[in-house]
Amino acid sequence: MEPVSTPAGRRPARGEHLELTIDTLAFGGAGVARLDGYVVFVQDGMPGDRVRAEVQKAKRAYAQARAIEIVEPSPDRVAPRAAHPGAPWQVLPYERQLQVKHAQVEEALRRIGRLEGFELEPIVPAVETWRYRNKLEYSFGAGADGRLVCGFHAPGHWEEIVELTDCLLASEPANAARERVVQWCRGQGLPAFDRRTREGFLRNLVVREGRRTGELQVRLVTSPGQLDREGLIAAAGPVAGLLWTQTDSVAETTQGGQSELLAGGEHLEEEIGGMQVRIAPNAFFQTNSEMAERLYGLAIDYAQPAGTDRVYDLYCGIGTIGLLIAPRVAEVWGLELVEEAIADAIANARLNEVDNVQFFAGDVRLAMRELVQRAGRPDTVVVDPPRSGLSQKVVRRIIEAEPHRIVYVSCNPTTLAPNAAQLVEAGYVLRRVRPVDMFPQTPHIECVALLERRDG
Ligand SMILES: C[S@@+](CC[C@H](N)C(=O)[O-])C[C@H]1O[C@@H](n2cnc3c(N)ncnc32)[C@H](O)[C@@H]1O
Repeated sequence: MEPVSTPAGRRPARGEHLELTIDTLAFGGAGVARLDGYVVFVQDGMPGDRVRAEVQKAKRAYAQARAIEIVEPSPDRVAPRAAHPGAPWQVLPYERQLQVKHAQVEEALRRIGRLEGFELEPIVPAVETWRYRNKLEYSFGAGADGRLVCGFHAPGHWEEIVELTDCLLASEPANAARERVVQWCRGQGLPAFDRRTREGFLRNLVVREGRRTGELQVRLVTSPGQLDREGLIAAAGPVAGLLWTQTDSVAETTQGGQSELLAGGEHLEEEIGGMQVRIAPNAFFQTNSEMAERLYGLAIDYAQPAGTDRVYDLYCGIGTIGLLIAPRVAEVWGLELVEEAIADAIANARLNEVDNVQFFAGDVRLAMRELVQRAGRPDTVVVDPPRSGLSQKVVRRIIEAEPHRIVYVSCNPTTLAPNAAQLVEAGYVLRRVRPVDMFPQTPHIECVALLERRDG
Protein backbone atom coordinates (compact mmCIF):
# COMPACT_ATOMS: atom_id res chain seq x y z
CA MET A 1 0.00 0.00 0.00
CA GLU A 2 1.35 3.46 -0.91
CA PRO A 3 1.80 6.04 1.81
CA VAL A 4 -1.00 8.54 1.95
CA SER A 5 -1.21 11.91 3.54
CA THR A 6 -4.34 11.95 5.63
CA PRO A 7 -6.30 15.16 5.13
CA ALA A 8 -6.89 17.28 8.20
CA GLY A 9 -9.77 16.05 10.28
CA ARG A 10 -9.86 12.53 8.78
CA ARG A 11 -9.02 9.72 11.11
CA PRO A 12 -6.58 7.25 9.46
CA ALA A 13 -7.91 3.73 8.96
CA ARG A 14 -6.54 0.57 10.52
CA GLY A 15 -3.95 -0.97 8.18
CA GLU A 16 -3.35 2.35 6.41
CA HIS A 17 0.28 3.28 5.66
CA LEU A 18 1.44 6.77 6.58
CA GLU A 19 4.71 8.60 6.10
CA LEU A 20 5.49 10.45 9.32
CA THR A 21 8.24 12.42 11.05
CA ILE A 22 8.80 11.49 14.69
CA ASP A 23 9.12 14.51 17.00
CA THR A 24 9.47 13.10 20.52
CA LEU A 25 9.13 9.98 22.64
CA ALA A 26 6.00 9.30 24.68
CA PHE A 27 5.88 7.64 28.12
CA GLY A 28 6.30 3.94 27.48
CA GLY A 29 8.69 4.55 24.59
CA ALA A 30 6.62 5.02 21.41
CA GLY A 31 7.62 7.79 19.00
CA VAL A 32 5.17 10.69 18.67
CA ALA A 33 4.27 12.10 15.25
CA ARG A 34 1.63 14.66 14.33
CA LEU A 35 -0.63 14.58 11.34
CA ASP A 36 -2.19 18.03 11.05
CA GLY A 37 -2.36 18.11 14.84
CA TYR A 38 -3.71 14.54 15.14
CA VAL A 39 -1.29 12.50 17.27
CA VAL A 40 0.08 9.17 16.05
CA PHE A 41 2.10 7.02 18.48
CA VAL A 42 4.62 5.06 16.44
CA GLN A 43 6.21 1.93 17.84
CA ASP A 44 9.93 1.72 16.90
CA GLY A 45 10.07 5.34 15.75
CA MET A 46 12.81 7.53 17.23
CA PRO A 47 12.87 11.37 17.32
CA GLY A 48 14.15 12.70 13.99
CA ASP A 49 13.17 9.57 12.02
CA ARG A 50 11.07 9.79 8.86
CA VAL A 51 9.17 6.50 8.87
CA ARG A 52 6.57 4.57 6.96
CA ALA A 53 4.13 3.37 9.59
CA GLU A 54 1.19 1.01 9.55
CA VAL A 55 -1.82 2.11 11.58
CA GLN A 56 -2.87 -0.52 14.11
CA LYS A 57 -5.56 1.34 16.00
CA ALA A 58 -7.22 4.69 15.27
CA LYS A 59 -9.25 6.55 17.89
CA ARG A 60 -10.83 9.99 17.84
CA ALA A 61 -7.95 11.64 19.69
CA TYR A 62 -4.97 9.60 18.52
CA ALA A 63 -3.77 6.54 16.57
CA GLN A 64 -1.28 3.79 17.29
CA ALA A 65 1.02 2.64 14.51
CA ARG A 66 4.18 0.63 13.98
CA ALA A 67 7.17 1.72 11.91
CA ILE A 68 7.57 -0.76 9.08
CA GLU A 69 10.30 1.15 7.24
CA ILE A 70 12.75 3.84 8.29
CA VAL A 71 12.61 6.12 5.23
CA GLU A 72 15.21 8.52 6.64
CA PRO A 73 16.89 7.65 9.93
CA SER A 74 17.35 10.19 12.68
CA PRO A 75 20.95 11.51 12.82
CA ASP A 76 20.90 10.43 16.49
CA ARG A 77 20.41 6.73 15.73
CA VAL A 78 23.15 4.23 16.49
CA ALA A 79 23.35 0.72 15.07
CA PRO A 80 21.55 -1.88 17.22
CA ARG A 81 23.74 -4.60 18.73
CA ALA A 82 21.22 -7.36 18.04
CA ALA A 83 17.55 -7.86 17.26
CA HIS A 84 16.09 -7.83 20.76
CA PRO A 85 12.45 -6.98 21.55
CA GLY A 86 13.49 -6.36 25.17
CA ALA A 87 15.92 -3.58 24.19
CA PRO A 88 13.96 -1.18 21.94
CA TRP A 89 16.00 1.90 22.93
CA GLN A 90 19.35 0.40 21.99
CA VAL A 91 19.22 2.55 18.83
CA LEU A 92 19.55 5.67 21.04
CA PRO A 93 22.97 6.56 22.48
CA TYR A 94 22.96 5.85 26.22
CA GLU A 95 23.42 9.54 27.13
CA ARG A 96 20.30 10.34 25.12
CA GLN A 97 18.32 7.59 26.86
CA LEU A 98 19.24 9.19 30.19
CA GLN A 99 18.22 12.67 28.99
CA VAL A 100 14.84 11.39 27.78
CA LYS A 101 14.11 9.56 31.04
CA HIS A 102 15.07 12.57 33.13
CA ALA A 103 12.86 14.82 30.99
CA GLN A 104 9.93 12.38 31.16
CA VAL A 105 10.01 12.35 34.98
CA GLU A 106 9.92 16.13 34.95
CA GLU A 107 7.14 16.21 32.37
CA ALA A 108 5.01 13.69 34.28
CA LEU A 109 5.29 15.63 37.53
CA ARG A 110 4.72 19.06 36.00
CA ARG A 111 2.14 18.22 33.34
CA ILE A 112 0.20 15.27 34.81
CA GLY A 113 0.67 16.15 38.50
CA ARG A 114 0.78 19.94 38.01
CA LEU A 115 3.53 19.94 40.63
CA GLU A 116 6.08 22.71 41.04
CA GLY A 117 8.85 23.75 43.40
CA PHE A 118 10.55 20.38 43.81
CA GLU A 119 14.21 19.69 43.22
CA LEU A 120 14.73 17.28 40.32
CA GLU A 121 18.14 15.76 40.88
CA PRO A 122 20.30 14.33 38.05
CA ILE A 123 19.46 10.82 36.89
CA VAL A 124 21.73 8.10 38.33
CA PRO A 125 23.18 6.24 35.31
CA ALA A 126 23.35 2.45 35.29
CA VAL A 127 26.58 0.69 36.26
CA GLU A 128 26.14 -1.85 33.44
CA THR A 129 24.24 -0.91 30.31
CA TRP A 130 24.08 -4.50 28.97
CA ARG A 131 23.76 -7.91 30.67
CA TYR A 132 22.33 -6.31 33.79
CA ARG A 133 19.11 -8.28 34.30
CA ASN A 134 18.99 -10.93 37.01
CA LYS A 135 15.70 -12.34 35.72
CA LEU A 136 14.52 -13.11 32.20
CA GLU A 137 11.23 -14.68 31.21
CA TYR A 138 11.48 -16.23 27.75
CA SER A 139 8.65 -17.64 25.67
CA PHE A 140 8.63 -20.72 23.47
CA GLY A 141 7.25 -20.72 19.96
CA ALA A 142 7.60 -22.36 16.56
CA GLY A 143 9.97 -20.85 13.99
CA ALA A 144 9.05 -20.44 10.32
CA ASP A 145 10.34 -23.98 9.64
CA GLY A 146 8.41 -25.40 12.61
CA ARG A 147 11.62 -25.63 14.69
CA LEU A 148 11.27 -24.95 18.44
CA VAL A 149 12.47 -21.43 19.26
CA CYS A 150 12.86 -19.60 22.57
CA GLY A 151 12.99 -15.81 22.94
CA PHE A 152 10.63 -12.86 23.18
CA HIS A 153 7.35 -11.99 21.49
CA ALA A 154 7.88 -9.81 18.42
CA PRO A 155 6.51 -6.28 18.93
CA GLY A 156 3.15 -6.00 17.18
CA HIS A 157 3.13 -9.73 16.30
CA TRP A 158 2.28 -11.46 19.53
CA GLU A 159 2.20 -14.97 18.08
CA GLU A 160 5.71 -14.63 16.60
CA ILE A 161 8.79 -15.31 18.76
CA VAL A 162 12.12 -13.57 18.08
CA GLU A 163 14.67 -16.28 18.84
CA LEU A 164 17.54 -15.30 21.13
CA THR A 165 20.62 -17.45 21.43
CA ASP A 166 22.55 -14.71 23.22
CA CYS A 167 20.25 -12.42 25.21
CA LEU A 168 22.30 -9.25 25.69
CA LEU A 169 20.37 -8.32 28.83
CA ALA A 170 21.31 -11.59 30.59
CA SER A 171 24.71 -12.71 31.83
CA GLU A 172 26.67 -15.30 29.86
CA PRO A 173 26.16 -18.09 32.44
CA ALA A 174 22.40 -17.37 32.49
CA ASN A 175 22.33 -17.56 28.67
CA ALA A 176 24.25 -20.81 28.69
CA ALA A 177 21.76 -22.35 31.15
CA ARG A 178 18.84 -21.28 28.93
CA GLU A 179 20.51 -22.74 25.84
CA ARG A 180 21.17 -26.10 27.54
CA VAL A 181 17.50 -26.45 28.45
CA VAL A 182 16.26 -25.30 25.03
CA GLN A 183 18.56 -27.76 23.22
CA TRP A 184 17.31 -30.56 25.43
CA CYS A 185 13.66 -29.64 24.76
CA ARG A 186 14.44 -29.67 21.02
CA GLY A 187 16.15 -33.06 21.31
CA GLN A 188 13.06 -34.42 23.10
CA GLY A 189 10.84 -33.13 20.30
CA LEU A 190 8.70 -31.16 22.78
CA PRO A 191 6.28 -28.79 21.03
CA ALA A 192 5.71 -25.14 21.95
CA PHE A 193 2.32 -24.23 23.38
CA ASP A 194 0.20 -22.40 20.83
CA ARG A 195 -2.02 -19.80 22.49
CA ARG A 196 -4.43 -19.67 19.58
CA THR A 197 -5.18 -23.42 19.38
CA ARG A 198 -4.29 -24.08 23.07
CA GLU A 199 -2.27 -27.10 21.90
CA GLY A 200 1.37 -27.92 22.57
CA PHE A 201 3.37 -28.02 25.79
CA LEU A 202 6.28 -25.60 26.36
CA ARG A 203 5.25 -22.11 27.48
CA ASN A 204 8.04 -20.18 29.21
CA LEU A 205 11.52 -20.49 30.59
CA VAL A 206 12.38 -18.29 33.57
CA VAL A 207 16.06 -17.86 34.37
CA ARG A 208 17.02 -16.01 37.57
CA GLU A 209 20.48 -15.23 38.79
CA GLY A 210 22.04 -14.21 42.09
CA ARG A 211 24.50 -11.69 40.66
CA ARG A 212 26.71 -11.71 43.73
CA THR A 213 26.38 -15.39 44.60
CA GLY A 214 26.58 -16.65 41.02
CA GLU A 215 23.58 -18.91 41.69
CA LEU A 216 21.24 -19.74 38.82
CA GLN A 217 17.62 -20.81 39.05
CA VAL A 218 15.83 -22.27 36.04
CA ARG A 219 12.07 -22.75 35.90
CA LEU A 220 10.35 -24.42 32.98
CA VAL A 221 6.68 -23.48 32.58
CA THR A 222 4.50 -25.86 30.58
CA SER A 223 0.93 -26.95 30.09
CA PRO A 224 0.00 -30.01 32.18
CA GLY A 225 1.72 -33.11 30.75
CA GLN A 226 4.62 -35.54 30.99
CA LEU A 227 8.30 -34.68 31.29
CA ASP A 228 11.47 -36.76 31.57
CA ARG A 229 12.53 -35.22 34.89
CA GLU A 230 15.89 -36.98 35.11
CA GLY A 231 16.73 -35.99 31.53
CA LEU A 232 15.96 -32.34 32.25
CA ILE A 233 17.99 -32.39 35.48
CA ALA A 234 21.02 -33.76 33.61
CA ALA A 235 20.57 -31.25 30.75
CA ALA A 236 20.17 -28.17 33.00
CA GLY A 237 23.69 -28.66 34.33
CA PRO A 238 25.12 -26.83 37.34
CA VAL A 239 22.17 -24.73 38.54
CA ALA A 240 21.29 -23.97 42.16
CA GLY A 241 17.61 -24.67 41.57
CA LEU A 242 15.54 -26.33 38.86
CA LEU A 243 11.75 -26.11 38.92
CA TRP A 244 8.92 -27.27 36.71
CA THR A 245 5.62 -25.36 36.74
CA GLN A 246 2.54 -26.82 35.08
CA THR A 247 -0.30 -24.45 34.33
CA ASP A 248 -3.44 -24.47 32.25
CA SER A 249 -3.90 -20.70 32.53
CA VAL A 250 -5.35 -18.94 29.50
CA ALA A 251 -3.21 -15.87 30.24
CA GLU A 252 0.45 -15.44 29.29
CA THR A 253 1.80 -15.56 32.81
CA THR A 254 4.54 -17.41 34.65
CA GLN A 255 2.76 -16.85 37.99
CA GLY A 256 0.50 -19.48 39.49
CA GLY A 257 0.17 -23.11 38.41
CA GLN A 258 1.67 -26.11 40.23
CA SER A 259 5.42 -25.93 40.80
CA GLU A 260 7.66 -28.89 41.54
CA LEU A 261 11.26 -28.66 42.66
CA LEU A 262 13.27 -31.03 40.47
CA ALA A 263 16.77 -30.31 41.76
CA GLY A 264 18.65 -28.03 44.16
CA GLY A 265 16.94 -25.53 46.45
CA GLU A 266 13.69 -23.68 45.94
CA HIS A 267 15.09 -20.30 46.94
CA LEU A 268 17.67 -18.26 45.12
CA GLU A 269 20.36 -16.74 47.33
CA GLU A 270 21.57 -13.19 46.68
CA GLU A 271 23.53 -10.47 48.45
CA ILE A 272 22.33 -6.90 48.45
CA GLY A 273 23.69 -3.89 50.32
CA GLY A 274 25.93 -6.19 52.37
CA MET A 275 22.96 -8.40 53.33
CA GLN A 276 22.28 -12.00 52.43
CA VAL A 277 18.76 -12.60 51.14
CA ARG A 278 16.73 -15.53 49.89
CA ILE A 279 14.16 -15.11 47.14
CA ALA A 280 11.19 -17.45 46.52
CA PRO A 281 10.38 -18.26 42.88
CA ASN A 282 7.12 -16.31 43.19
CA ALA A 283 8.56 -13.31 45.03
CA PHE A 284 9.40 -10.00 43.41
CA PHE A 285 13.02 -8.93 43.40
CA GLN A 286 14.40 -5.83 41.63
CA THR A 287 15.66 -7.11 38.26
CA ASN A 288 18.87 -5.08 38.32
CA SER A 289 20.71 -6.03 41.52
CA GLU A 290 23.55 -3.51 41.17
CA MET A 291 21.18 -0.59 40.59
CA ALA A 292 18.77 -1.81 43.29
CA GLU A 293 21.56 -1.06 45.76
CA ARG A 294 21.77 2.52 44.45
CA LEU A 295 17.99 2.84 44.54
CA TYR A 296 17.75 1.59 48.11
CA GLY A 297 20.65 3.81 49.19
CA LEU A 298 18.81 6.80 47.79
CA ALA A 299 15.48 5.82 49.39
CA ILE A 300 17.20 5.48 52.78
CA ASP A 301 18.97 8.81 52.30
CA TYR A 302 15.62 10.48 51.50
CA ALA A 303 14.08 8.85 54.60
CA GLN A 304 16.65 10.66 56.82
CA PRO A 305 16.44 7.85 59.39
CA ALA A 306 16.60 8.75 63.07
CA GLY A 307 17.08 6.38 66.00
CA THR A 308 13.56 7.02 67.32
CA ASP A 309 11.71 6.56 64.00
CA ARG A 310 8.95 4.09 63.29
CA VAL A 311 9.06 3.25 59.57
CA TYR A 312 6.48 1.48 57.41
CA ASP A 313 7.81 -0.41 54.38
CA LEU A 314 4.69 -0.81 52.22
CA TYR A 315 4.85 -3.20 49.21
CA CYS A 316 7.96 -4.60 50.87
CA GLY A 317 8.54 -7.73 48.74
CA ILE A 318 11.21 -9.85 50.44
CA GLY A 319 11.86 -7.01 52.90
CA THR A 320 14.99 -5.46 51.40
CA ILE A 321 14.29 -1.75 52.03
CA GLY A 322 13.00 -2.35 55.56
CA LEU A 323 15.93 -4.58 56.47
CA LEU A 324 18.47 -2.09 55.15
CA ILE A 325 16.94 0.84 57.03
CA ALA A 326 16.27 -1.11 60.26
CA PRO A 327 19.73 -0.63 61.90
CA ARG A 328 19.23 3.16 61.73
CA VAL A 329 15.69 3.44 63.16
CA ALA A 330 13.70 2.21 66.15
CA GLU A 331 11.34 -0.14 64.33
CA VAL A 332 10.16 -1.19 60.88
CA TRP A 333 6.80 -2.64 59.86
CA GLY A 334 6.59 -4.27 56.42
CA LEU A 335 3.45 -5.13 54.45
CA GLU A 336 3.27 -7.18 51.25
CA LEU A 337 0.61 -9.15 49.37
CA VAL A 338 2.58 -12.28 48.38
CA GLU A 339 2.84 -14.71 51.29
CA GLU A 340 5.99 -16.42 49.98
CA ALA A 341 7.70 -13.01 49.81
CA ILE A 342 6.74 -12.32 53.46
CA ALA A 343 8.10 -15.74 54.46
CA ASP A 344 11.36 -14.67 52.75
CA ALA A 345 11.31 -11.28 54.51
CA ILE A 346 10.95 -12.97 57.91
CA ALA A 347 13.71 -15.47 57.05
CA ASN A 348 15.92 -12.65 55.76
CA ALA A 349 15.49 -10.72 59.02
CA ARG A 350 16.63 -13.80 60.94
CA LEU A 351 19.49 -14.50 58.53
CA ASN A 352 20.82 -10.97 58.98
CA GLU A 353 20.07 -10.78 62.70
CA VAL A 354 17.73 -7.83 62.34
CA ASP A 355 15.26 -7.94 65.23
CA ASN A 356 13.42 -4.60 65.07
CA VAL A 357 11.30 -5.49 61.99
CA GLN A 358 7.87 -7.08 61.70
CA PHE A 359 6.56 -8.30 58.37
CA PHE A 360 2.93 -9.04 57.51
CA ALA A 361 1.21 -10.56 54.51
CA GLY A 362 -1.72 -8.42 53.47
CA ASP A 363 -3.21 -6.13 50.87
CA VAL A 364 -2.16 -2.51 51.48
CA ARG A 365 -5.61 -1.44 50.26
CA LEU A 366 -7.28 -3.31 53.13
CA ALA A 367 -4.69 -3.66 55.89
CA MET A 368 -3.47 -0.10 56.47
CA ARG A 369 -5.88 0.85 59.27
CA GLU A 370 -5.15 -2.39 61.12
CA LEU A 371 -1.41 -1.79 60.72
CA VAL A 372 -1.74 1.70 62.25
CA GLN A 373 -3.77 0.28 65.17
CA ARG A 374 -1.19 -2.40 65.79
CA ALA A 375 2.04 -0.54 65.15
CA GLY A 376 1.15 3.04 66.00
CA ARG A 377 1.51 6.02 63.66
CA PRO A 378 4.60 5.97 61.44
CA ASP A 379 7.18 8.75 61.28
CA THR A 380 8.14 7.68 57.77
CA VAL A 381 6.28 5.64 55.16
CA VAL A 382 8.23 4.08 52.30
CA VAL A 383 6.07 2.89 49.40
CA ASP A 384 7.26 0.88 46.42
CA PRO A 385 4.09 -0.07 44.52
CA PRO A 386 3.73 -1.85 41.16
CA ARG A 387 3.49 0.19 37.92
CA SER A 388 -0.18 1.00 38.54
CA GLY A 389 0.86 3.10 41.56
CA LEU A 390 -1.35 3.72 44.59
CA SER A 391 -5.13 3.88 44.43
CA GLN A 392 -6.69 7.11 45.74
CA LYS A 393 -7.97 5.08 48.69
CA VAL A 394 -4.47 3.89 49.62
CA VAL A 395 -3.21 7.48 49.40
CA ARG A 396 -6.06 8.48 51.75
CA ARG A 397 -5.07 5.72 54.20
CA ILE A 398 -1.47 6.99 54.17
CA ILE A 399 -2.66 10.56 54.77
CA GLU A 400 -4.80 9.31 57.70
CA ALA A 401 -1.68 7.69 59.23
CA GLU A 402 -0.06 11.18 59.31
CA PRO A 403 3.58 10.30 58.62
CA HIS A 404 5.99 13.26 58.62
CA ARG A 405 7.73 11.90 55.58
CA ILE A 406 6.82 9.73 52.60
CA VAL A 407 9.50 8.16 50.42
CA TYR A 408 7.94 7.00 47.18
CA VAL A 409 9.93 4.51 45.09
CA SER A 410 8.22 4.52 41.70
CA CYS A 411 8.64 2.46 38.53
CA ASN A 412 6.18 4.67 36.67
CA PRO A 413 6.29 8.48 36.83
CA THR A 414 2.83 8.74 35.24
CA THR A 415 1.28 7.08 38.31
CA LEU A 416 3.66 8.76 40.79
CA ALA A 417 2.47 12.16 39.51
CA PRO A 418 -1.26 11.89 40.43
CA ASN A 419 -0.39 10.14 43.72
CA ALA A 420 2.05 12.93 44.64
CA ALA A 421 -0.53 15.55 43.59
CA GLN A 422 -3.11 13.99 45.94
CA LEU A 423 -0.57 14.07 48.78
CA VAL A 424 0.30 17.71 48.05
CA GLU A 425 -3.39 18.56 48.07
CA ALA A 426 -3.57 17.00 51.55
CA GLY A 427 -0.74 19.09 52.97
CA TYR A 428 2.49 17.43 51.86
CA VAL A 429 5.27 19.15 49.94
CA LEU A 430 7.13 17.37 47.14
CA ARG A 431 10.75 18.16 48.01
CA ARG A 432 13.12 16.05 45.94
CA VAL A 433 12.93 13.57 43.08
CA ARG A 434 15.74 11.54 41.58
CA PRO A 435 15.46 9.17 38.61
CA VAL A 436 17.62 6.03 38.68
CA ASP A 437 18.29 4.11 35.49
CA MET A 438 17.55 0.48 36.32
CA PHE A 439 16.64 -0.53 32.76
CA PRO A 440 19.12 0.66 30.09
CA GLN A 441 18.09 0.09 26.43
CA THR A 442 14.43 0.20 27.46
CA PRO A 443 11.92 3.03 28.08
CA HIS A 444 11.29 1.94 31.70
CA ILE A 445 11.88 4.62 34.32
CA GLU A 446 12.48 4.29 38.05
CA CYS A 447 12.65 7.20 40.47
CA VAL A 448 12.57 8.06 44.15
CA ALA A 449 10.55 10.98 45.50
CA LEU A 450 10.47 12.61 48.92
CA LEU A 451 7.33 14.25 50.31
CA GLU A 452 7.19 15.94 53.71
CA ARG A 453 4.29 17.24 55.77
CA ARG A 454 4.07 21.01 55.40
CA ASP A 455 3.46 21.51 59.12
CA GLY A 456 6.54 19.43 60.05
C1 LIG B 1 7.81 -2.96 42.83
S1 LIG B 1 7.68 -4.32 43.95
C2 LIG B 1 8.64 -3.74 45.29
C3 LIG B 1 9.15 -4.78 46.26
C4 LIG B 1 10.25 -4.40 47.20
N1 LIG B 1 10.08 -3.08 47.79
C5 LIG B 1 11.61 -4.48 46.52
O1 LIG B 1 12.30 -3.48 46.36
O2 LIG B 1 11.99 -5.61 46.14
C6 LIG B 1 6.01 -4.18 44.43
C7 LIG B 1 5.56 -5.22 45.43
O3 LIG B 1 4.21 -4.92 45.81
C8 LIG B 1 3.51 -6.14 46.01
N2 LIG B 1 2.08 -5.80 45.92
C9 LIG B 1 1.34 -5.60 44.80
N3 LIG B 1 0.09 -5.23 45.12
C10 LIG B 1 0.03 -5.17 46.48
C11 LIG B 1 -1.00 -4.86 47.41
N4 LIG B 1 -2.23 -4.51 46.99
N5 LIG B 1 -0.72 -4.91 48.72
C12 LIG B 1 0.53 -5.27 49.16
N6 LIG B 1 1.55 -5.58 48.31
C13 LIG B 1 1.30 -5.54 46.99
C14 LIG B 1 4.08 -7.05 44.95
O4 LIG B 1 3.86 -8.41 45.28
C15 LIG B 1 5.56 -6.66 44.95
O5 LIG B 1 6.29 -7.46 45.84
